[in-house]
Amino acid sequence: MSDITIIGTGNMARGLASRALAAGKSVQLLAHEDKAKAEALASKLGGSASAGVLGDAIEGSIVIPAVYFDASKAIVTQYGDTLAGKVYVDITNPVDFSTFDSLAVSAGSSAAEELQKLTPATVVKAFNTTFAGTLVSGEVSGQQLDVLIAGDDEASVKAVSDFASAAGLNAINVGPLRRAQQLEQTGFLNILLSANEALPEYQWNSALKFLPAV
Ligand SMILES: NC(=O)c1ccc[n+]([C@@H]2O[C@H](COP(=O)([O-])OP(=O)(O)OC[C@H]3O[C@@H](n4cnc5c(N)ncnc54)[C@H](OP(=O)(O)O)[C@@H]3O)[C@@H](O)[C@H]2O)c1
Repeated sequence: MSDITIIGTGNMARGLASRALAAGKSVQLLAHEDKAKAEALASKLGGSASAGVLGDAIEGSIVIPAVYFDASKAIVTQYGDTLAGKVYVDITNPVDFSTFDSLAVSAGSSAAEELQKLTPATVVKAFNTTFAGTLVSGEVSGQQLDVLIAGDDEASVKAVSDFASAAGLNAINVGPLRRAQQLEQTGFLNILLSANEALPEYQWNSALKFLPAV
């Protein structure tokens, strides 16, 4: 059995699996269709993660689909009631890539809230404001990454927060799941900054940081 299941084998899967292994967690990696992709990522990460494919039983009490919003909806539909009792971490930034000017969820909602309507799992929004490359080391310019976390269920938020802390990250609980609306807009702003060639110092290896008063 594994502590954390990560679905997908792309950029965020690699970053999150790196942090999970650094935290001493056991990790199950489920590839979209090709198990060899999960095996290859597991091997790149040092070989201790287990590899499987979408459709396999989810072992982790925390499941992190490291996929885009549409795929997330398909995953919660596919796994249905088997997700009951799991903490589902929604990391998506549901950007409308046809315009690159807004999110593809209606104002007053968020991908996380839409997913919560579709699954008996407890949805927690997190990691949508940290870029994949920065998660591999967990820091930027010598500073811990901030992980902004939103959720309605205290125990589930604590589970994600404890995971982030154990992974060497700075967990900040920002409030109930509806705060995902602000987190997704913040994630989008972060993407816009990084895509802006006029701001070369804020590229995909940069990070958002909330500085505490000392
Ligand atoms: N990249 C970042 O810095 C970053 C930061 C914060 C949040 N995010 C969010 O993280 C998510 C993943 O981003 P990414 O950059 O890691 O993307 P990515 O590198 O393109 O990886 C996407 C993964 O999703 C899998 N996939 C595609 N369709 C699927 C389906 N129907 N069912 C299951 N898996 C499917 C792909 O597998 P195959 O290639 O085998 O099809 C691939 O492993 C997105 O929601 C994004 O908004 C990204």
